[in-house]
This record gives sequence, C-alpha cells and structure tokens, in this order.
Amino acid sequence: MHTQVGIIGAGPAGLLLGQMLHVKGIDSVILESRNQDYVIDRVRAGVLEQSTADFMDAMGVGDRLHREGMRHEDVYVSFGGRRHLIPLAELTGGKAIYVYGQNEVVKDLMNARLATGRPLHYEVSDVSVHDINTDQPRIRYRHNGSDQELICDFIAGCDGFHGICRPALASALGDAAKFYDRTYPCGWLGILADAPPSSDALVYTYHERGFALYSMRSQKITRLYFQVPPDEDIRDWSDEAIWEEMLARMTTVDGWKPNVGPILNKNVTAMRSFVAEPMNAGRLFLAGDAAHIVPPTGAKGLNLAAADVLLLGRAFAQFYRESKTDLLARYSCEALKRVWKAQRFSWWMTQTLHKFPGENPFDYQRQLADLDYIVGSKAAMTSLAENYVGLPIDVAF
Ligand code: APR
Ligand code: PHB
Repeated sequence: MHTQVGIIGAGPAGLLLGQMLHVKGIDSVILESRNQDYVIDRVRAGVLEQSTADFMDAMGVGDRLHREGMRHEDVYVSFGGRRHLIPLAELTGGKAIYVYGQNEVVKDLMNARLATGRPLHYEVSDVSVHDINTDQPRIRYRHNGSDQELICDFIAGCDGFHGICRPALASALGDAAKFYDRTYPCGWLGILADAPPSSDALVYTYHERGFALYSMRSQKITRLYFQVPPDEDIRDWSDEAIWEEMLARMTTVDGWKPNVGPILNKNVTAMRSFVAEPMNAGRLFLAGDAAHIVPPTGAKGLNLAAADVLLLGRAFAQFYRESKTDLLARYSCEALKRVWKAQRFSWWMTQTLHKFPGENPFDYQRQLADLDYIVGSKAAMTSLAENYVGLPIDVAF
C-alpha cells in the first residue's frame, strides 16, 4: 500500500490535516488506535480561537460550528469577589472566541472524512515508523488481525502526547532532540453539569481557595473547573462537595454564581507544559499534542494543533504543487515560534490565577496586583485579549 501522507492519530490534529490535504488534492491514510466512539466521547476543552474557526471555515467544516457554537466577544476575570469584563473583540479589531466542544470539532471532521471516501482506520495496533530518513518512510501496523505496511512520501505524527511518533523522533535525532518540560503542582477537577449557563462569557476566577473556571458547552450545559492537588482522586469528591467548592470560589459580591444542576461527568486532569524541538526528523513531522502540551488555563491546546496543521498542510501542498521543500524545511522553526508564545501565555495565565504550594502572602498580593493591573490598563488588557483570541496567523490557502 502507498499513500502520499500517512497520518498517525485521528484526534483534532490528524483529522484536520487529513481534511486540509483532501482540499489540496493530496492523498492520506489516517490510522487511529482507539475506536470511533472513544475518540468522540473523550471530554476535552472547548474554546476555539478566531483563526481556528476561520481555518475550519476555509476547509468547509465550519457550518455546524457557526450554527451551534457560541461566539463570545468578551471574557471575565474575577478576583476579590468582583468580575471584570475583558472586551476581547473591541480590543482586537473584532476577533472573538468560539465555545464549541472539541468532541463536536472531532465529529464534524470525522463526517467530513467519511464524505471524502478517503481511508481512516480505527483500532489499529502495533504501530511503528521506519526509514524516516529516506524518501519512502513506512508505517507498520496491525489491522483486522493482519500485519500491514504503508509506504508513504511523508509521515505526520498526530498521535498525541502518549503516541509513538515523538519517541521515534527522539531515537532518530539522539542528542539533537531537546525536550522542555514543566509539571505544575496542581490539577483541574472538571464537571459537566446539566444546568443552563448563568453568564454569557467565560469567567476565570482567582480566589483565596484557588483557581476556578466557569465555562459552558451549550444553552443547557455548564462546564466548570477548580484547582485541586495533582493526585486528587475524583472518588473523594461527592457531587455536593463539588458544588459547595465551586460556589465558594465563584460566587461574586453582586450575587452572581453558576446555576446548579445534576453532574453529568467529573474528572481530574493534570497540568503540564512540554515542548519537543525540533518538530520533525527526516520525513516524520509532528503536529499537535505529539509535539507540545500546554496547561489548559489559556485554552490553547486544540488551537496550537490547528496552527501546526495549517503550516504543515501548506508545506505539503507546496511540495506537491511546486516540487519545493523550503516550507517543509521551515515547518518546525515556524511552528515553534507560535508554540513558545502560547507556552508563555499559558504559563503566565496559570501562575497568575492558581495558588501553588510553598507560596506565601507576598505571592498572593503579587498575583492580585498582576490582575488589578490587567483590568486597569488598556495596554495590559489588550495584551491579554490578543493572546487569548489567538496571535495573528494567515489562514488563507
Ligand atoms: N497509533 C495510532 N493512533 C494513536 C497512537 C498510535 N500509536 N497513539 C495515540 N493515538 C491516537 C489517540 O488515540 C488519539 O485519538 O492519536 C490521537 C491523538 O489525539 P489527541 O490526543 O486529541 O491530540 P491532537 O490531535 O494533537 O489534539 C490536540 O487535543 O489533547 C487535546 O488539549 C489537546 O485540545 C488539544 C488537542
Ligand atoms: C472549557 O470550556 O473546557 C475550557 C475553557 C477555557 C479553558 C479551558 C477549558 O481555559
């Protein structure tokens, strides 16, 4: 079997890349280790930057996002019991964010893939990559009980943080590969609640008891988080205790608070920052979580994956259309510029809004001053806004 681009992983990165290549008339085969329902049902973040939404439109997969997603032109930062509005669109020349679950993005992309008739194989196992330093790299895997080999022009490693592509890159590059890592001494306890949103914008709260985040998924479903120790066991949290903590952290002096309702799903996620450099080895190119992880505070994970795909898809298109390799050669360098800026922003949001063990009252006052500066200075607020809606990227292709 031969394909132009072998894509490993059918999360947002792999599916988006498959769609972009289809639009450009380039063949791909997507290989996914899980089954389709598992990939759809994973509860993940739900904020798209303006450029991610524009990219989905450009690829013809933005219809439902605009019908069912919620465009937010503002976000709140809350501290000292008060919510402060950050007018994102006003400060960024009309850019906004779209609240639309990653599950929905994945569903739309799966349907688009199905409509193309191009291959997407679920439940493959024993995936390995070979000959990445030649112009015929190969992927070996098992599917439906038989061993397969896919000969490719290129391999796209879109297999997430726990995939096999980054280790393959590491062993191919040896000391030339660098990995930057930071784990945070906290996690997020997240819930989906059957309760209509009580605010029309997200609320990032800094409270003496720690961080909390108010978000939503639809007109009927609220999505909430609060900071917990990283090894917290979700079984130790009854629904009543979760609501008590949410309300203690989020309720403001004017009486605003989330609507309470039955909890549909609850879990704890760890927080880390991670970057692999470079993002390619020979003809193996990483995109999305395979190459980098951000803590969820800036809502950048999915958006960075989309930005990688845009650059990588363009580079493949240039290769096939013009027989040139300069965009492929520059892919890692260009992608990492955005990755590091998103890392900086996500780290800054995290350290400004969370309480960390070992900090003292000095740190608490410093964080409050940071927040007070942001809501009191148009320059500082604009800086937050332009990072939050996503730094400029040219989505025309
Ligand atoms: N072979 C095939 N598929 C694999 C393998 C493998 N060896 N290992 C992992 N996968 C699949 C996973 O099952 C998953 O479906 O690769 C996919 C990777 O998807 P994601 O983890 O969603 O990563 P990515 O597509 O880069 O999306 C980034 O997802 O994790 C969030 O916060 C992150 O929102 C960001 C976005
Ligand atoms: C979410 O809605 O899940 C969400 C929103 C904003 C974040 C992280 C997660 O920063």
